[in-house]
Formats: sequence, C-alpha cells, structure tokens
Amino acid sequence: QTIYLKDYTPPAYFIDTVDLDFSIESAGTVVTATLAMRRNPALAAQPLMLDGEELETLDLTVDGKKTAFSATPTRLTVDGLPDAFTLRTVVRIQPDGNTRLSGMYRSKDGYFTQCEAQGFRRITWFLDRPDVMATYTVTLHADQATYPVLLANGNPVASGEEADGRHWAKWADPFRKPAYLFALVAGKLDVLRDSFRTASGRDVQLAIYVEPGKLDQCPHAMAALQKSMKWDEERFGLECDLDHYMIVAVGDFNMGAMENKGLNIFNTKYVLARPDVATDVDFENIDRVVAHEYFHNWTGNRVTCRDWFQLSLKEGLTVFRDQEFGADLHNRQTARIREVRGLRAAQFPEDAGPMAHPIRPESFVEINNFYTATVYEKGAEVIRMIQTLIGRDGFSAGMDEYFRRHDGQAVTCEDFVAAMAAASGFDFTQFMRWYKQPGTPRVTVDGFFDAETKTYTLTCTQANPRASDDAPYLIPLRVALFAEDGSLLPGSERLLQLTATTQSFVFEGIAGEPVPSLLRDFSAPVYLDFDYTPEQLTVLLAHESDPFNAWEAGQRLATQLILDAAAAIAAGRTPTWPASFVDAARKLLQTQAQRGAAFVAEALTLPGETTLAELMSVVDPDALHAARNGLRRHLAEQLEGEFSGLYAGLTVQEAYAPSSEQAGRRALRNLCLSYLLELDTLAVRQLALQQFRTADNMTDQFAALAALANVNAAACPQREQALADFYAQWKDEALVVDKWLQAQSTSRRPDTLATVKALTSHPAFDLGNPNKIYALIRAFGANLVRFNAADGSGYAFMAEQILALHDRNPQVASRLARSFDRWTKFDAGRQAHARAALERIRDHAGLSRDVLEVVTRALGGG
Ligand code: ARG
Ligand code: ZN
Repeated sequence: QTIYLKDYTPPAYFIDTVDLDFSIESAGTVVTATLAMRRNPALAAQPLMLDGEELETLDLTVDGKKTAFSATPTRLTVDGLPDAFTLRTVVRIQPDGNTRLSGMYRSKDGYFTQCEAQGFRRITWFLDRPDVMATYTVTLHADQATYPVLLANGNPVASGEEADGRHWAKWADPFRKPAYLFALVAGKLDVLRDSFRTASGRDVQLAIYVEPGKLDQCPHAMAALQKSMKWDEERFGLECDLDHYMIVAVGDFNMGAMENKGLNIFNTKYVLARPDVATDVDFENIDRVVAHEYFHNWTGNRVTCRDWFQLSLKEGLTVFRDQEFGADLHNRQTARIREVRGLRAAQFPEDAGPMAHPIRPESFVEINNFYTATVYEKGAEVIRMIQTLIGRDGFSAGMDEYFRRHDGQAVTCEDFVAAMAAASGFDFTQFMRWYKQPGTPRVTVDGFFDAETKTYTLTCTQANPRASDDAPYLIPLRVALFAEDGSLLPGSERLLQLTATTQSFVFEGIAGEPVPSLLRDFSAPVYLDFDYTPEQLTVLLAHESDPFNAWEAGQRLATQLILDAAAAIAAGRTPTWPASFVDAARKLLQTQAQRGAAFVAEALTLPGETTLAELMSVVDPDALHAARNGLRRHLAEQLEGEFSGLYAGLTVQEAYAPSSEQAGRRALRNLCLSYLLELDTLAVRQLALQQFRTADNMTDQFAALAALANVNAAACPQREQALADFYAQWKDEALVVDKWLQAQSTSRRPDTLATVKALTSHPAFDLGNPNKIYALIRAFGANLVRFNAADGSGYAFMAEQILALHDRNPQVASRLARSFDRWTKFDAGRQAHARAALERIRDHAGLSRDVLEVVTRALGGG
C-alpha cells in the first residue's frame, strides 16, 4: 500500500479543539478524547474516517448521544454527521506492552510518548495528519507516589489530589498544532530549572527532567538551550513564544529527540553529559540536538508540514540551522568538514542505493523509513545552497517572508522556496530539481590555460545517472585559482552558477597555468571530478585559504593512494607509498599550532572505508581495509617521532572544558596515539593503557579504549584489561555502556563478529533498548570489512537480529535492515550470501511493513 504525493487531498473534516483525559492505571490507560469538529465545506460530504492502531474502543458519542460507527483495527468510520459536532471517544491503550516506542509507552521511570510521524493514532482515534491543527487541553490522572511528575504541552492550569493516592494535572497549549507534536510524560523524575529572558523581555521558564540521580549531568544541555534561544534571536530574529519550555530525557527512544510543542522528549544520549562520562563529540552533539529541537519551534511547529512528503521542509531547514549554530558556537572550519564527512559516509551511499529518494519523496510505504540522511542532511545542503545563491541577508529576508506568509500554517517545500524567491528576486525554477530527483550529481571539470590570450577556462559538465531525465541542475560552484607557489590569484574567487549540462567559464588575465580550487566550502552536494596532479593537491593542502578545500585536497591525495593500493593488494602486489604524501603529513603536524590542532586532526584522518567503497566499481572490503590500514601504518612508521612528540606536547594542562580549543588538542593528541598503536609495540600499548587509566575525562579515556580495542594481535593483555576495567567502572551508566559495546562492534579485529554475538547475551545488552541495538548491532553493520565477511556470516547474523526485532520494534529493525543497502557492490560470492539473507527476511511470515519496504527495495522490487 504505497502512498503518493500526487494523491494529496485536503482533510474532509477539521478539528478545532481537542480535550484529552488520560487515566493511567495498572490495567491500562483510559483515554477520553473530546473533539470539536466541523466538515470541510470545500469537499463533498463524506463519512468521517479516523485513524487508530491498537485501540480498545470503549465508547463513542456524537454531541452527547451514543452513535453507530464501524471500525477496523486501523480505521473508525462514522456516517450521517452534522456540519459541526462534538465527537467523544473513550479507548483503552496498553502502554506497558508497547515495545514499538511509538505512541504512549513505558520506560524505566514512567510513561512517555512519541507521536511523529503517526504515533498519535496509537493513543486515540484521530485525523492523524499534520494539516489538521487544533488547540489542546490535557488532563492526566495517575498514582501520585509512582508518577509524581505529570506533564503535557503548554502551560500548567490546575492540579490536585484524588482518592486512593492518585493525583491529577491539567495542561493547556494555546498554540494550534498537529497531533504529531502532542506529548505527555508521567513519571518519577528530577528536574533542573532555569529561565530565559527574550529580546522583547518575556520570561520563559526552562526545565530539564531526567531520571533520578542524574541532575549533575544536565547543566550542559541547559546552557545549550539558553545559547540556542539567544542565537535564534540574533541570527533570525526569532523569539521563543512559550511561557514554559521543557525537555524530558528518556533512555528508551527510537531516534535522537522530538520537538513536541513546549515539551521536547529526548534520547538521554542528547541530554546527559559530565566530563567523565561524555566525550567532546557528545558535548557538541548535545549542543546541536538541543538547538535543533528548539529551532523546530519555529521551523516545524509554528510553520509545519502539509503532509509527510514535505518532511524536509522542517528537517532540512532545521538541520541547516543547527549546523550554523554549531559552527558559530564551536569551530566553523571543522564543523563543515565533519558535515561533509558525514554526508559522504551516509547520504551518498543512500543516494546510490536501493532506498534512494529525492529530499522530497514522491511515494512511500512507511514514512518512518524516510527519516533519512537524504531528507535531513542532503535537505540541509539544499537549504545551504539557497543561502549561497542569495546571500546571508537575502536568506534572512526570505525567512522573514516565510513566517510573514505562513505562520500558523501547514505548508509545502514550494511555499518555502517561493518565500525565498519573493524576498530575493532570485528565480528558483531550475533549482527545484534538487527537491525532485534522487541521486548525487557528478560535475566533471576541465581546465584549459591559454598562454596567448592569458585566459583560463573551466569547462563543467554535469550528469546524474539516477535522475529520471537529463535536465541540468542549478549548481552553485564556488571556485578560486591559485598560483603554483600557492598564492591566491587576485580576483579569482567566484561563485559560478552551473545551469547547463556543459558550460564554460573564462578567467582573464591569468599569467601561468593555475591550480583551480573547485567546490570551495562544499558549495553543492555533488561528486566533483578534476584531473588533479598530486603536486597540485599538495599546493592546495598547504595553501588553500578555504579550510574545507585544503582538507579536501588531502582527502583526494589519500583516496588515490588507498584505491591504488587496494587494487595492488587485490592483484597480489605490495603497495608502495610516495614520500611526498608523508612529507605533506609531516608538514601538517609541524604547522599544527598555526593551522589549528582540530584542523590537522581532520586532515590526517583518512577517508573512511564506506566512503571509499562508493568509489570502487566492485568493492573488495579486505583489500580496501588492508590498503587503508597499510597507509596508516606507513605514516606511523615514517612519522613516529612527530606523533610521539606531539602526543607529549599537546597534553591539556587546564581543567577539562568541552571548548573547541581543548577539544581540538585532544582530538589531535588521540589521533597521534591511534597512529602510534599501528606500530603495536609494547611501549605504545602501555602508553595507551596508561592514558586509559589516568584520564580525567571520557574523551581521553574512550580514545585509549577504542584504539586498544582495534589492536589486531591475537593476544593483547592491555586490550583485555582496558575493556574489563571500563565495564566494571561504568556498568551503571547506560550511555557509557553503549560506548563499550560500540568500541567492540566497530573493532577491526577478525573475531569481531564472534565478540558481537557473545555480547548479545551479555547482561549489558538489551533488545528492548534502541541505543543498545544501535551501539552493538547497527554499528557492526557499518563495520565494512567485518559485516561484509566473504563467508556471509555477517549477513546471516544481521538477518537473525532483524527477525528477532521486527515485530517488537519495526522502526529499529528497519534501520538495521539498511545495513544491506550496498550489497550489490560486492563480488558474486558475497552477493549470493546477502541475497539469501535478504530473501530469508522478506519471506518471513508477518514481516513488519517497515522492514518489508526496505528489503523489497534492496532486492530490486518496488
Ligand atoms: N522530528 C524529530 C527530529 O528531528 C525526529 C522524530 C522522528 N521520529 C520518527 N519516529 N520517525 O528532530
Ligand atoms: Zn528535526
């Protein structure tokens, strides 16, 4: 049952107000919904059809009178209704038995909800679609001792006690909202309170609720929230519209976090942090996710999506906003590098695989399968291109126009772009192709220097074999030209707009053959081919003033070396490594003080195996793995002195702070350690174990653990010691246990699958907790060389895990099934094993729709 964008019709009924009453009892929760409804006069009269799932219907009245209705498990139909009426339904739901973590469910410390995209129908009969917006009042009743905290969206209006030790609380949300933004919480939780005064002088009460005993892990998230509120005022003039802004952290959560109006619910992973339990990267991710959910209050909640095909309207835009916030707060250079690294590792493969879809999909079977890198991260790149084309001021004006036109509405991606066009005067007609086509365009550039006319001509050709036609994209291409000595040619920095399939751009007054720097700052999400010589790339790595393209030059150099080496290894030859690459790496290490430790750490991190695999026609994971690690080992041998020196010299003496300056030093120092461990001498093992034992922060402790976990030698007592000690030290900190699992599931050791299998029956593992599954199983699926083992053992294991989970939690199982996305890129032997595993999943009786859509597409159907 595929759903198509082209079939969209407006709702046949509207809901103006919603009054919900939840009575939380041991036999289940009774939900009484009173809906003020009216017929949509624009459509022909028709029966009312409501969505529902796993609801036990106890009663239904229309305007106070019992009324006939018909119901299937997922649809309730009422006929013969007046134009306006009050519908009251009473249902019982079973949150304790809800293992899907969609709708209302139980987690350790109480009850929580997740309604996006279609979880609200698991709570009550409703028009569960984002273009039906209503104002809500909610009353909760529960046992007072077990559930002292009762929360819902909006403002607290009243509360009191009831018989039998129960109590109640009533909340009212003054803003109209779609059902997917509904939330409630009932539990025993600690709270950290603070406040924020908006630019216009309104006071917003802030609260972060967490499991008892975790208050000391909340201050960072609170500070992040306050910084986000300030940033959105300064950058976009957007103020918080709420009196109360609450964040609740829950340990069992399918995704990262959820922007429910005034009552965000977060995965604990994106709230809890203390220097000894969270890494620098965790601290930064918390900043970004807290900001992301807060920014949704405007981009998502005040202006929401007309239908779920428009998901990127709010997600692409909000990711772009959280990226910009993160760049302003931390380090703009490395933020951009990491965004692109992530895009290439996850989105490019998605765009080339069976689940490829435009950022605005045209059809889906299960919308939960489309909360993807494409909708989120490529979606953010598309928004970034809009800003690149019309400038920061034009973009800000476009945002103002968007809210002026659409505040309070449920709209489409076209509406957003139209506001940008109106504010800037820019014609986005051709640009809309970015919303409509799957696949990553490839831009091939040729440079021609004419000494006679002193001109340099760049000829650009674009193609996207995944697109449904050959029409060209509008591609913003930032370029600059450098002389061979590395100096920027004055006046050569340009923003080219590619609009034709093949197009030339001429630079005048060029004295000698220049080195072109193309796609600066990664100005478009494309593959960029240019026939660079290693010498040209070395010039760019050393001198390009755009840090992204300096980094990119280094990645290109390393990519070529690793791919050549992989081919050599596959052919039974020994790879060789040019001295020039080692020299360039040495120079980076020597200039880290000027270039910044964070940048140098990024520049010396080789491209990942998943990213490299995309560049091979048939992936030989063993050869690729050996090649990449061969280069790492070669660098370690040649630069041992430099790595050791920096390791000693970069020690952070100050008290730990998750600042970008300290984080950069730690990143480079830990990178030095991991290179040194390639030599696997006793001294280095002991150095790593020593760092593991003496570190006063999780960044350094975990870096040592992860590096040791990778040691290949059959016997490595330091490795065993560190893993055992880490678990003993942190077994009661769930998020740290996730790190322990992940260090093992991502290990390059040949026995990793056996370890992962053993860990599935370890007390630390829990099939009911998504974070545990992601850390152990999904991370194993991303371990290119071990998951894609030639004997098919990795595939068979993953199939088993998916089948163990698909019923219990289809969303999480479906994400595991995505591990198979690139199975056709491997050799025939591996493909046969992968096909067998996929067919076994597909043919399983009663397979969840979520998993079925993914495996059907992987097998080439649908
Ligand atoms: N809107 C949430 C976020 O970005 C994600 C919720 C996704 N939930 C889901 N079940 N698919 O920020
Ligand atoms: Zn979001």
